Amino acid sequence: MTTDGLIRPGAIWLDDRGVHVNAHGGGMLFHGGVYYWFGEHKTEGEGGNRANVGVHVYSSTDLVRWVDGGIALEVVDESGHDIERGCVLERPKVIFNARTGKFVMWFHLELKGQGYRAARAGVAISDSPTGPFRYLGSGRMNAGVWPLNVPVEYHRPLSSDEVAGIEAIRACTATRVLDESMHYYYRRDFAGGQMSRDMTLFVDDDGEAYHVAASEENSTLHITRLNEEYTGSSGEYVRSMPNRCHEAPAIFKHEGRYYMISSDCTGWAPNAARLSVADRMFGPWRELGNPCCGSESEVATTFESQSTYVLSTPSGPIYMGDRWRPKDAIDGRYIWLPFEFEDGVPVLRWREAWSPVGMV
Ligand code: GAL
Repeated sequence: MTTDGLIRPGAIWLDDRGVHVNAHGGGMLFHGGVYYWFGEHKTEGEGGNRANVGVHVYSSTDLVRWVDGGIALEVVDESGHDIERGCVLERPKVIFNARTGKFVMWFHLELKGQGYRAARAGVAISDSPTGPFRYLGSGRMNAGVWPLNVPVEYHRPLSSDEVAGIEAIRACTATRVLDESMHYYYRRDFAGGQMSRDMTLFVDDDGEAYHVAASEENSTLHITRLNEEYTGSSGEYVRSMPNRCHEAPAIFKHEGRYYMISSDCTGWAPNAARLSVADRMFGPWRELGNPCCGSESEVATTFESQSTYVLSTPSGPIYMGDRWRPKDAIDGRYIWLPFEFEDGVPVLRWREAWSPVGMV
């Protein structure tokens, strides 16, 4: 994307064909010495935020020169299909399953014409990292299963009166004023499955994989251990940081601890990042605050970006975020910055241009 080998956050990043990389809300897979970058292929204008094409994949060995690998998962021209052209298909992430030898993609799916009501997780699978990925299915998460970390006294679905009582306070900002002690949404969604919007995947050193998603009307993250194939839930999940409205989660492991960078819940508009830490994926997670250092506006907007992934490299993690352009989706930019550690705490500082040489 540059001829001088530098990463320039926020600039136009050209691929090997001279076209701005089109992989928004993306994630990385490192496999066989190659980095694969999967992301939402956006198109022009406001309508370009919908999935009109599919999931784009690029490959690189140095994180700077990106080769266009085409569309890894295509949307479908069949009316009523889950991933019909024009649906919302966001934040695709791909992991490799060493047991099955398959590449497994998860994404946030909203059915065509239904706004953000469906709140589903979608899954696709491939024998090769660049695809084509075969769509397996989509749905809510963990239907009929209680989270591991809620008291048994709440193991009862909401009554219809209780459901009616919360209909009026659906917006994610309103969830902040809900009384957490009532344990509303996961009880409401027990039978049909838990909502799943902004999401990420994380594979631990022991081969266990986790799906982390904004659930409960975006108020609470759910962390689900995946099954052996990585294609569904193992049936074990926890609620994490209830009513804190974390979105855009990305996980990395550093010196044996788990870190999560996430955002507040303000749609396409950037907001202040949040860093959290835990000794286990299932938590408890503790919020450390905003990891950004810089001017007031840089700190308040995460350098005008929203997290999407953290790439772990032998010399430290790299923050990857999106600078969305909701009015012309295809013009969205990428903000990548290496984490620095100060007294053991990860922080981010703006860099105009930097070299990943020595990191990868
Ligand atoms: C953001 C979310 C994006 C997208 C957007 C739609 O909060 O992180 O992935 O869903 O809202 O408004």
